[in-house]
Amino acid sequence: MIGTIVCVDDQAEVRRLLGDVFRAKGGNVVSFDDGEDAIAWLDKNDADLVILDLDLGAGRRSGIEICRTVHGKLPELPIIILTGHGAIDDAVAAVKAGAVDFITKDPYLEDKLEISVDKVERMLKYAIDRKRLEDENRELRASNERLRKAAGRRWAIVGDSQLMHTVMTKIEKVAPVPRPVLVLGPRGTGKELVARAIHMMSPRASEPFITINCAAVTESLLESELFGHEEGAFTGATKQKEGKFELADGGTLFLDEIGNMSLEFQAKILRVLEYQRFERVAGSESIQVNVRVIAATNANLKEAMAAGKFRPDLYDRLAFEEIHLPSLAQRLEDVPVLATYFLARFRQDVAGITVKEISAEAFDRLAQYDYPGNVRELKNVVERAVYMAQGEVLRGSDIDTALPPEAQQAAVPGTNFGDDTRLPLDQRVEAFEAWLCKDALERTRFKQKEAAALLGISYDQFRQRYRKYGLGKD
Ligand SMILES: Nc1ncnc2c1ncn2[C@@H]1O[C@H](COP(=O)(O)OP(=O)(O)OP(=O)(O)O)[C@@H](O)[C@H]1O
Ligand SMILES: [Mg+2]
Repeated sequence: MIGTIVCVDDQAEVRRLLGDVFRAKGGNVVSFDDGEDAIAWLDKNDADLVILDLDLGAGRRSGIEICRTVHGKLPELPIIILTGHGAIDDAVAAVKAGAVDFITKDPYLEDKLEISVDKVERMLKYAIDRKRLEDENRELRASNERLRKAAGRRWAIVGDSQLMHTVMTKIEKVAPVPRPVLVLGPRGTGKELVARAIHMMSPRASEPFITINCAAVTESLLESELFGHEEGAFTGATKQKEGKFELADGGTLFLDEIGNMSLEFQAKILRVLEYQRFERVAGSESIQVNVRVIAATNANLKEAMAAGKFRPDLYDRLAFEEIHLPSLAQRLEDVPVLATYFLARFRQDVAGITVKEISAEAFDRLAQYDYPGNVRELKNVVERAVYMAQGEVLRGSDIDTALPPEAQQAAVPGTNFGDDTRLPLDQRVEAFEAWLCKDALERTRFKQKEAAALLGISYDQFRQRYRKYGLGKD
């Protein structure tokens, strides 16, 4: 580790001594009797250590000045100063000029050198370790950043509608606040996506994001999944196991489908939320964690509370912030951006996809369906249409084949008076509405703006129905 040592001293015997000491340690020694020569050499060569005499003889720059020059040029290079008379002033001046150590030349010089070089070696090692750590940290931060960006793309929330803008603003605001969030909305509206986005945008982004579906298992299994268990806690518990709360320590735990837990179990969850403490099943040790909880459900918790099936205190605790995801039918204007996004993702994930763009006619067909399965269903429709289609442009007929059979009727509920008594009320109302719109179109010779005025609704509202009921087609 000792490497190349530059020794600068005007006394030949000191140079010889330094040379002997360092060569014995396996160093490569370059000696100068003049500071300027040493500086010139250092300009062209690498060194690991400089030993510099303070008094370089009359008519020459002092060692302190040489030290200052060398340190100015090579701030990382350690310099040890030698002097014949160990005065504290010299020591202070040398350190100010950038020296790392100071040794007096006396009969014990050799021993002192040994000690000082040891010291410098330790300092060098420390400096190298620190630099390596800094490099590693920088690399880690950069890779985290890259990961976050990649994850950001994968978990991007797409949508241009006002409703989705409101949702996104809420997500951004609540993400850094270490409190629970309750995400509500019908199936397939992106509840899990929102939970991940909140985690990704929080300071916990590089910590774990753990999910658990509370409705997928029995409650006793759920308990051991969430809190873990000790060995022998129940038949089959052959080893101690960490629960999801422990796995999520420092990060976020996503409790999905929390709507159907028993009141007793809800009380257990409440306790962990309150105190961030729990015991493993059959365990006595109290485990402390720091977990942010995001919960989701498509159940109506207000109704569940009114019916005595959901604890209001748990609701209050979870709903520090509530995010309601609107159904896709409430924001059909998001369909084109979502469809474009799903096409791009599908092209990335699946090789050999020919479709590159979606035709206007295909967009029109996509917007005429009301997607009871919401965004997930739209994604499926797009992917099905895209993988079946041939050519680079997705056509309307490709969408037709990808829509579920019932979509054909749902899109055009029949333009009658809504007098089919076999249908439920909402479909009869829609049929009647479709008939009214079609009638208005005919009366205005298919001028949509006038038809809207005739019905007393805005042009946008009319366009929405026009697309929904497929009135462009006959
Ligand atoms: N706004 C959106 N932008 C992009 N992708 C979305 C959006 N909303 C939903 N998705 C996608 O739709 C699918 C369903 O979303 P997610 O699983 O988050 O819904 P969910 O509300 O949790 O559904 P469920 O109630 O059935 O569990 C996922 O593939 C998700 O990536
Ligand atoms: Mg979900």
